[in-house]
Amino acid sequence: KEDQYILAIETSCDETAVAIVKNETELITNIVASQIESHKRFGGVVPEIASRHHIEQMTITLEEALDDAGMTLDDMDAIAVTEGPGLVGALLVGVNAAKSIAFAKQKPLVGVHHIAGHIYANRLEKEFEFPLLSLVVSGGHTELVLMREHGSFEIIGETRDDAAGEAYDKVARTLKLPYPGGPQIDRLAQEGEETIDFPRAWLEDGSYDFSFSGLKSAVINRLHKANQRDEYLKPEDVAASFQASVVDVLSTKAFRAAEEYGVKQMIVAGGVAANKGLRAALQKKFKDSKTELLIPPLHLCTDNAAMIAAAGAVAYNQGHRAGWDLNANPGLDL
Ligand code: KG4
Ligand code: ZN
Repeated sequence: KEDQYILAIETSCDETAVAIVKNETELITNIVASQIESHKRFGGVVPEIASRHHIEQMTITLEEALDDAGMTLDDMDAIAVTEGPGLVGALLVGVNAAKSIAFAKQKPLVGVHHIAGHIYANRLEKEFEFPLLSLVVSGGHTELVLMREHGSFEIIGETRDDAAGEAYDKVARTLKLPYPGGPQIDRLAQEGEETIDFPRAWLEDGSYDFSFSGLKSAVINRLHKANQRDEYLKPEDVAASFQASVVDVLSTKAFRAAEEYGVKQMIVAGGVAANKGLRAALQKKFKDSKTELLIPPLHLCTDNAAMIAAAGAVAYNQGHRAGWDLNANPGLDL
């Protein structure tokens, strides 16, 4: 059998990314051009600026990936691209680049769901064993996804309001920390102590859903109250207390779901999977469990195109093909 190469493009938010994956699981190159510096002074991603940067970076990133791999577009078996969810203007740049390449080179085109990508990032490290559960925690998502086979995704729990990463970014903003706030709070939390008892949203008995907006408000209100009373709260302690609440709920629900569904693997995916507190709590919970805990290395946790290539390769081999009418879909369902 001949080797198979999939080139993937990801532009759903603020990274322009191109990657090549060989035979579904072997990473050949993974180039990510981050725009964080351009969005920092606005305290968050500005959609119009993101789109414009993607246009500027698309060709450069593509050429860098091909150079790094020592390959050409002719060597590719298919072109995969994130079709959603994400920022529509940002997604459009990647989708149109992928369509142009596929049309010009007469290559098959495959549309990929961004979250499927986050989950499949793990397959570049370790082969999947089904059934598996994935805790997807990013700036836009907080979901527990059950997979019984390749390409099949069943959402057993999700956030009813803010995503975990979103809560991190909002609390960070209140603490006047630079964007993106997640890594900043994580860093502070390591130096602080859980001195404030913030609420945990367990929701109804047995529910695998999440809710973080109440916690976010509780943090903001506590800071406000301290301000009015001229009371000094150590930012490290606020960060540690907030993080303790998020991590407690995420790790407890993930562990309970893993037990109930008797899964072979528990995969953590998305930007918040980089969180040191979450990693430690999950490692502790799953230490003596039959379920194998998999957390990808940092460069595969946050947005990248390798994950899109990994998910795209499976979709391609299952026969999925996108037409020339493929469009960006900001609200795409998993
Ligand atoms: O997956 P990702 O790169 O982009 C989305 O698809 O959303 O995730 C970005 C999110 C941001 O909210 C960021 O603050 C959060 O992941 N994040 C973290 C950490 N590193 C990134 N949150 C908590 N702790 C971290 N160490
Ligand atoms: Zn993401």
